[in-house]
Amino acid sequence: MAAPTQDAAHEGPDHEGQAHEGQAHEGWSSRSAFILAAIGSAVGLGNLWRFPAEAGANGGGAFVLFYIFCVVLIGLPVLLSETLIGRFGQTSAPQSVLKLAAASRASRHWGALASIGVLSAFIVLSFYCVVGGWVLYYIGIFVSDLFHTGVAGGAFQGRDPATIDAILPGLFGNGPLMVGLDVVFIAVTLFFVARGVSGGIEFVAKWMMPAFFVLIVAITIYGAFTGAMGDTVNYLFTFEPEKLTGAVMLAALGQAFFSLSLGVAGMITYGSYVGRDVNLAGTSLIIAGADTAVALIAGLCIFPIVFLAGLEPSAGPGLMFQSLPIAFQDMPAGSLVGLLFFVMVAFAALTSSVALMEVPTAWMMERFSLARGPASGIVTAGALALGVLAALSFNTLSDAHPAGFIPMFEGLGWFDFLDSLTSKLLMPIAAVLTSIFVGWVAERRIVDSETGLGGGLLRVYLVLVRWVCPAALMAILIIGIFPSILGA
Ligand code: PHE
Repeated sequence: MAAPTQDAAHEGPDHEGQAHEGQAHEGWSSRSAFILAAIGSAVGLGNLWRFPAEAGANGGGAFVLFYIFCVVLIGLPVLLSETLIGRFGQTSAPQSVLKLAAASRASRHWGALASIGVLSAFIVLSFYCVVGGWVLYYIGIFVSDLFHTGVAGGAFQGRDPATIDAILPGLFGNGPLMVGLDVVFIAVTLFFVARGVSGGIEFVAKWMMPAFFVLIVAITIYGAFTGAMGDTVNYLFTFEPEKLTGAVMLAALGQAFFSLSLGVAGMITYGSYVGRDVNLAGTSLIIAGADTAVALIAGLCIFPIVFLAGLEPSAGPGLMFQSLPIAFQDMPAGSLVGLLFFVMVAFAALTSSVALMEVPTAWMMERFSLARGPASGIVTAGALALGVLAALSFNTLSDAHPAGFIPMFEGLGWFDFLDSLTSKLLMPIAAVLTSIFVGWVAERRIVDSETGLGGGLLRVYLVLVRWVCPAALMAILIIGIFPSILGA
């Protein structure tokens, strides 16, 4: 990894003069700062909470292997395409797309792909911070545990999994508490986003990501010695073709996008802060590799405990929150380790929520010539309004099915609706548009030079982005969305 340098990306004079139109654009302080921030954006609750829950709800092995397939063949090329658009544009996501469209003499309508992304980022932010609030709740439990019973722990000590189960409903049944925790989590996010790219976002990533990696590896090693590791490996990596339905494929695809922060213009936005000297293909590979590694490690960390304790792998959103406390209850210094772990989860969530908030914030700053503070404040207020609906959908609003008349959203409450709307519809659609735009519409000369690829690898990338991504994405969208029509 390159040593940090002082030349801020946006000060690079060699961007064909484009970087300096409009208001000054910020930048990362170094290549490694970009890589850490992008990994920070990718690695988050998507890996720790959503990946195991989705894998469990979708039958394990078939989901996991199709997920890896999606990351390599679709996620990676789309990741490179998004960062490339941003780096070329050096401005907010929609404007960056417009710049590349203009340089390629293409229609302004392509800006829509980023507009869909900005909208999705805003929606994901709203429910993401609700889950961030659950993490804060667990931090609270372990802290009070430390005070009451010392480092050995007591909150989960000696309880059987069924009573641990009752802790979540305790939170889920308490609407005001969940909303309050949501407010706290989004306020912390706002604090860092308001401080700017290199001052706030980068600071969070530099300190929190390395600490997070150390802890998750340590807990997985512990799980390997104590939990049901053999069952886990079987469960996660045994491919049963008959389980690979259209719905499972769409879920795996959606998870790949969610986890890599794609289709929400996030990587366009982060790419816009990258200097000309950075090789985007190389960094994309590092980001996707790290993100996938953490998802798999999270699976290997959480499922042994699930099996050991006889929990249901398909328990859904509560899975991580149910299984991990069980591991901590038997560990030496359990409440201390539990506390550290959930603090790390909060860090990982925070480096993602700042990315989510940054996308609509950057757009508002530019579109309405606002300063960072007011722009991020308005985004926060909006996301909070939507987040309250998501939070209350677990109790007060549990009967509300906002889009129940659309078959694919039938039976979903606000939280699940917002989640499915983004990961299974808006993100893949934005990604189809991105791959067609970069593969077919954008000027080849620009694309070729921005990727940093040459020869055979460039050809592979072009085949993926022109043919494989659009075709696979559309196929998965169709078989996922119309399962009844196709009988999948
Ligand atoms: N990738 C993040 C995670 O896995 C979530 C996220 C999505 C962040 C989109 C930014 C943009 O938790």
